[in-house]
Amino acid sequence: MIYSAEKLTFRDGRNYTVRSVEPEDAPRMLRYMKAMLGETPFLLRTPEEFDYSEEDEAAILAGRRDDPRCLMLVAVLDGEIIASADVSSHGRKSRVLHRAELGISVRKDFWRQGIGSALMERLIAFAAEHGYEQIELTVESKNRRALRLYMKYGFTVYGTRPHGMKYPDGSYDSDYLMIRML
Ligand SMILES: CC(C)(COP(=O)(O)OP(=O)(O)OC[C@H]1O[C@@H](n2cnc3c(N)ncnc32)[C@H](O)[C@@H]1OP(=O)(O)O)[C@@H](O)C(=O)NCCC(=O)NCCS
Repeated sequence: MIYSAEKLTFRDGRNYTVRSVEPEDAPRMLRYMKAMLGETPFLLRTPEEFDYSEEDEAAILAGRRDDPRCLMLVAVLDGEIIASADVSSHGRKSRVLHRAELGISVRKDFWRQGIGSALMERLIAFAAEHGYEQIELTVESKNRRALRLYMKYGFTVYGTRPHGMKYPDGSYDSDYLMIRML
């Protein structure tokens, strides 16, 4: 789904743009993902595991843009992506079409500036307006920033998956399964 560019303001007064992703974003999205994945241990992939070619990434982004029940937003500052978030259907089968899934990330230099909140508000409004009845997500139990963001927007924990992630030192983290009814 296309979302026209919107100018927003950081808490420190600078401006940035929020808009839907385009296939032409592929090179800057690859740069964003590799940098962002290196800044947090809480996402599924390591930077090395995000190994799409520019062509593959452009095709994925075109699919996101052209899917009327998906909204993938990017926040852009000085021509570079500084945050990304998306909401899409849990699946294409008729019995799960009411369930949306949400993902969100922000570059570390821009945490606590209100970008995550701005993106969440737009994704929740999109989901509510496009036939979804609930939004679901998974978050590592130690990811306090993300948990606080999700609770601020009405998500609640409905389950815990033990040992959802295993780290190179042999330690584990549990996943919280969260949901927000619309
Ligand atoms: C989680 C994340 C998306 C939050 O983005 P953000 O732009 O920093 O979020 P905001 O500035 O809008 O803050 C949202 C809320 O989170 C909470 N929060 C943010 N930083 C916090 C901190 N250091 N301590 C406690 N709470 C914090 C607050 O409740 C805040 O709301 P408030 O500022 O109105 O009080 C960002 O930290 C991130 O990308 N982390 C790495 C990737 C990730 O973990 N993604 C989620 C995977 S499930």
